[in-house]
Amino acid sequence: MKDANVFTKNDKHSSDHPSSADESAAPQNIYDNPTFFAGYQALRQNDTGLNGALEQPALHRFLPKLAGLQVLDLGCGFGDFARFAREQGATAVTGVDISSRMLEAAKALGSDGAIRYLNCSIEAHVPEEQSCDLVVSSLALHYVADYASLVGRVYRALKPGGRFVFSVEHPMCTAAPTAWVLDAYGRRLHWPVDQYRQEGRRETRWFVEGVVKYHRSIESYVNGLLAAGFQLEHLGEPAPIAHALAARSELQDECRRPPFLLLAAARPVTERDGPGP
Ligand SMILES: C[S@@+](CC[C@H](N)C(=O)[O-])C[C@H]1O[C@@H](n2cnc3c(N)ncnc32)[C@H](O)[C@@H]1O
Repeated sequence: MKDANVFTKNDKHSSDHPSSADESAAPQNIYDNPTFFAGYQALRQNDTGLNGALEQPALHRFLPKLAGLQVLDLGCGFGDFARFAREQGATAVTGVDISSRMLEAAKALGSDGAIRYLNCSIEAHVPEEQSCDLVVSSLALHYVADYASLVGRVYRALKPGGRFVFSVEHPMCTAAPTAWVLDAYGRRLHWPVDQYRQEGRRETRWFVEGVVKYHRSIESYVNGLLAAGFQLEHLGEPAPIAHALAARSELQDECRRPPFLLLAAARPVTERDGPGP
């Protein structure tokens, strides 16, 4: 993918059928694998993935104004969003990531006393109740097995009126992540969707074998938010931005199926909460 791990033209993916492996297993820390890390860092440094062309512009459209906000970034990676949020006036940002390599690189990219990086899994991080105005997560939550529990923690972490904005690999891509079906000349015929209703663990190849992700349907992503009490504000299946499409012809294929799902939701303000932010 693209930093998204939607898959690049030359990537080969194993035929990752749903696995019945124990989903309560410890979260995988694949970004600390040296081969994976080197591949991912090169992808981001060269901007050959979909982050700048597609995912970040879409996510930014659904953010509230960041000035004065307490922000939590789940799966913060190199800290791009943390630095962006501070540039936009966020009061403080906490970035959580399981990968110490990613966090070392984040710190090397710029220190700021109001950015705090926690080397911790998203699953283990329990933010203080009503401590955040905004929880953001870019392309990390498809690595988390227990979505309902995560959404509950995020809801409790938000102040009334606070927002949860996140992107994940699109369920059409995580269902059967086998990559494009090609014709005899290597041309992309179509993207296969299979086992859509069979949610759970998938293993795929991205830089290395054995990358673990969790497939969920769109229905589950949305209903998980509603069940926790969120109000859904936006559901997006973003396409590449125009100037990226003009500059990179291979991005045309990203219009054939949605690489990412983007959701924006709010913790409602109730009468009990008094006036919201
Ligand atoms: C695709 S990268 C995205 C990084 C960053 N959000 C961005 O958009 O630039 C996914 C990040 O999530 C982190 N991650 C994956 N699974 C995690 C988990 N269970 N807990 C915490 N971080 C995790 C990875 O280490 C990696 O830094």
